[in-house]
Amino acid sequence: MDTETEKEYPLNTSRLTKRQDDIGCKQNMKLDQFSCQTQMKLYRVHATLLQDNEDKVVVEESFQTKTSSKDELKESSGEPPESTSSSTLESWVIKFEQSVNVLLTDSVIKILDTLYHDRNYARFFVLETIARVPYFAFMSVLHLYETFGWWRRADYLKVHFAESWNEMHHLLIMEELGGSSLWFDRFLAQHIAVFYYFMTVFMYIVSPRMAYHFSECVESHAFSTYDKFIKAEGDELKKLPAPEIAVKYYTGDDLYLFDEFQTSRPPNSRRPTIENLYDVFLNIRDDEAEHCKTMKACQTHGNLRSPHSYPEDEFEDEGNCVLPQADCEELN
Ligand SMILES: [Fe+2]
Ligand SMILES: [Fe+2]
Repeated sequence: MDTETEKEYPLNTSRLTKRQDDIGCKQNMKLDQFSCQTQMKLYRVHATLLQDNEDKVVVEESFQTKTSSKDELKESSGEPPESTSSSTLESWVIKFEQSVNVLLTDSVIKILDTLYHDRNYARFFVLETIARVPYFAFMSVLHLYETFGWWRRADYLKVHFAESWNEMHHLLIMEELGGSSLWFDRFLAQHIAVFYYFMTVFMYIVSPRMAYHFSECVESHAFSTYDKFIKAEGDELKKLPAPEIAVKYYTGDDLYLFDEFQTSRPPNSRRPTIENLYDVFLNIRDDEAEHCKTMKACQTHGNLRSPHSYPEDEFEDEGNCVLPQADCEELN
């Protein structure tokens, strides 16, 4: 299983190599090398867990990592790898990708700020319509790769579907609150969503790391949007009833998918109480923080794991490793 798992690097292994993950650790997350190496040993990809009884998918040799065994040995012993020029190039690529993402996110935020500065529910409707598109795009590409027989990544598909399911319920809540009542808002949201879908598919094919970082930027913005709203309107929200769909989603009997997208916590560890509209927005905000953590974890290959794939005590064992969630922890 381990040998098979190690082969399941994504298509874009020219970028998402093990050493590049280290670069991300060193340069983006500002943790020392020991922490990064320890973290990578702790996390394992369990992408083949659901296919144990199925035929093995042969992974194309051309998608193997660029990291040489010599460099891997040096890295594992704490020595720097030989090809530092390649590492420097990769760090610039990462910086470029992240700069483009920030620019794209800021541009969309400015447009929404201009159009929706005085209509919160309409703004949230547009945001939620767009927010679930990346997960559909990720699943589309992963399905395509699976169809080609390149690899299977069951955990990624399952977690991304759970994320999409969660965002869909945010959208249903906004619709119940009247956010989609104007034709213009629906037209704008749906057309942005179509553009956003194809853009994310292209980005995910070229660089999964970049696509996940872009999604992290969007989720981070969603968190701060709801956080500001709760702080500004909290007293009023506490007087209003919760939409029926919110009560059903957050307090229903089957919360498997609710647990599934929260990859940094064990199942059954978060069970919201919904008594009024304030509780609803509080939990939507917290959902966005969980999405942010999951998107951050995805940027380092091998970090993503289905919460249901591990025994609960393994969360405690690995709880002191904050690498994938370092920035998103600030959101809570
Ligand atoms: Fe959302
Ligand atoms: Fe979101």
